Amino acid sequence: MSEWQKTSWRSKPRVQMPDYTDAAALTAVESQLSKYPPLVFAGEARKLKESLAAASRGEAFLLQGGDCAESFDQFSANAIRDTFKVMLQMAMVLTYGAKVPVIKVGRMAGQFAKPRSAPTETVDGVELPSYRGDIINELDFTSDARIPDPAKMLQAYTQSAATLNLLRAFSTGGYADVHQVHQWTLGFTEGEKAAKYREMANRISDTLDFMKAAGVDSTRTNALQTVSFYTSHESLLLEYEEALTRMDSTSGKWLAGSGHMLWIGDRTRQPDGAHVEFLSGVMNPIGLKCGPTTTAEDLKVLMNKLNPENEAGRLTLIARFGAGKVGEHLPRLIKTVQEEGANVVWSCDPMHGNTIKSASGYKTRPFDSVLREVQEFFAIHRAEGTVPGGVHFEMTGQDVTECTGGVRAVTEEDLSARYHTACDPRLNASQSLELAFLVAEELSALRDEKQAEAV
Ligand code: PEP
Ligand code: CO
Repeated sequence: MSEWQKTSWRSKPRVQMPDYTDAAALTAVESQLSKYPPLVFAGEARKLKESLAAASRGEAFLLQGGDCAESFDQFSANAIRDTFKVMLQMAMVLTYGAKVPVIKVGRMAGQFAKPRSAPTETVDGVELPSYRGDIINELDFTSDARIPDPAKMLQAYTQSAATLNLLRAFSTGGYADVHQVHQWTLGFTEGEKAAKYREMANRISDTLDFMKAAGVDSTRTNALQTVSFYTSHESLLLEYEEALTRMDSTSGKWLAGSGHMLWIGDRTRQPDGAHVEFLSGVMNPIGLKCGPTTTAEDLKVLMNKLNPENEAGRLTLIARFGAGKVGEHLPRLIKTVQEEGANVVWSCDPMHGNTIKSASGYKTRPFDSVLREVQEFFAIHRAEGTVPGGVHFEMTGQDVTECTGGVRAVTEEDLSARYHTACDPRLNASQSLELAFLVAEELSALRDEKQAEAV
């Protein structure tokens, strides 16, 4: 087998990537991007990998979430802050319930390219190429808008850099200080979950007061004042990924510099395809979506290719089967992982197997199905004695109406009110928090069970 190079994906079959018509323009963009600084650094990727290794053992828990697709149009500091804030709230709920550190990874600062179920879309008898994300073409339904334009990669890079800059500022500049736990509730003052959150925040404040009285000045404890927040996206547009790939001078390994964690989607995980080839050679922690059509044989080959040294924290398997189907598929894949003795983090994506079309024509996800898939995921890991290591959500801090249900029930009729996603429907802030409470209950039940076994 020839040695991996950042270009070696080019000789493999590729799917879900655009055919750029202007080769010179593409080359110019690639050459420009390859001179830009990487967005993330090797030391950060290593640190995230260590944390994920802990998640694979049940000593930490992965919370990955954000937009289905980031958009140029909806780019704003408030939107970034709100998603960051909900993720902090969710992480707080999870940490409190599970008593393990929560690894926070945004689908942010790079989540622009989308695989599509069909290459074209027909509206009122007009057929045009599908929209593939703002890094590739435009959502408007005109033939011009749907032409892939390589210059969009530069805009995506700039937006990612600005997003990451703000996230780094929020993470370390005081906003994420646990003493602010009450501030994060502002804006979510209605509803039963908000009350539950406030109650938890009170208990956390009490603990901090107690520590202070006992002589532990928590305001000087860096660990409580800052958080580690990582970025992730689907590694789909390989020209962009290749151009941002750099050699890490300390280890001599290749780093995909576009984000901390990259994943392979359910549609691009062909064992001999371009996407698997590219990610097999970079040192970042990576995710692999596993769906109903993932066979045991494919999974075996993929685990060997993507993690030949069986390094803990390198590979996260993101299960996305759909409510009612987890029992049919998860146990067989868990068996494969066990037979191979593979180190993986098992994460649950309860979004992508539960997309339906509402009567009004909107793509939506019933909140009940999302909840049910999460419950099935936990039940199976409990039965198998394996570790549920994380969750993966499409969510936003905005008060959108894209998924139906939840405590402040969104009905099918409500969908049109605030349906803003550029691609798949996202959980809104209140639905996200509700889900976090459910996951926290599952994790704390698991912990109680383990402790009972230990005595
Ligand atoms: C996604 O995560 O946005 C996605 C397209 O997922 P999947 O590959 O699992 O369908
Ligand atoms: Co999606």
